[in-house]
Amino acid sequence: MRTLPLDSAAVTAVDLSAAYPWPVDRAWTRVAMLRSLDGGVAGADGRSRSISSDTDRVVLHEIRRLADAIVVGAGTVREEPYGPMRPDAETVAERARLGLAAAPAFVVVSANLDLPYDAPMFTGSGVRPVVVTADDAPAGAVDRAREVADVVALPRTGLGGRVITAALHDRGLRRLLCEGGPGLLHSFTSDDAVDELDLTIAPVMPTSHGVPARGNAPLSPSGFRLVGLLEHESFLFARYLRLTPPNPEDSA
Ligand SMILES: NC(=O)c1ccc[n+]([C@@H]2O[C@H](COP(=O)([O-])OP(=O)(O)OC[C@H]3O[C@@H](n4cnc5c(N)ncnc54)[C@H](OP(=O)(O)O)[C@@H]3O)[C@@H](O)[C@H]2O)c1
Repeated sequence: MRTLPLDSAAVTAVDLSAAYPWPVDRAWTRVAMLRSLDGGVAGADGRSRSISSDTDRVVLHEIRRLADAIVVGAGTVREEPYGPMRPDAETVAERARLGLAAAPAFVVVSANLDLPYDAPMFTGSGVRPVVVTADDAPAGAVDRAREVADVVALPRTGLGGRVITAALHDRGLRRLLCEGGPGLLHSFTSDDAVDELDLTIAPVMPTSHGVPARGNAPLSPSGFRLVGLLEHESFLFARYLRLTPPNPEDSA
């Protein structure tokens, strides 16, 4: 056990792109999570923004900046106004140098396809969104999704984090940022499909009205080790990497 000096790594003094690197040689799945002190995932309004901060949004922006795809669950898309992503010219140029599309694609995971198709993430994204669903989804709902997104239909049985990430890798989407919510996160962690966990702890405790984290989730089979810890205005930004080396076959 050791004590971390509180002033050693204030977010504002840090090169965030160096603090949140992507590996260059393999597919990678990072998860970004924001939690209140009591483990809540949203404030009284049901949205995570109300427990966030300007600096938290700056860190999330960096975590997203060079991703191939931002993967979210349907519950979050129904609750939060998402997208579109509009990277600045400098970021677009950097992405081009790395062989990435101009912006990350939004990927929404939904079994029942009851999604807000008029939302900016579907109507305003420069890169066509992807909807991942089960292969027994109703045909009419699939047709509606296809009007605004590419649809990837996977077998309902075993539709978890590893199957979803493999399907996205097949589409050339290798740098994956899963932004939750708790339901999708459960699918990813219980399937041991997470390489990196970027956790923000917000110094607030809105339990009485906030949305709690999902309970009774199975633990990820791989443990995680802390590789970075930043602080700003009592928000903590922790970066964890999985302990177990990933299966080389997963990174092809
Ligand atoms: N603090 C944070 O970091 C953070 C981040 C994101 C969201 N949130 C908050 O979390 C809350 C929403 O929580 P939630 O658990 O409902 O959100 P969610 O995880 O975004 O959505 C759950 C839904 O995603 C779909 N889904 C997830 N895993 C699936 C799988 N393996 N196969 C098929 N479909 C799958 C299902 O959609 P269908 O129902 O369409 O079948 C499921 O009902 C909101 O209050 C939001 O603000 C917080």
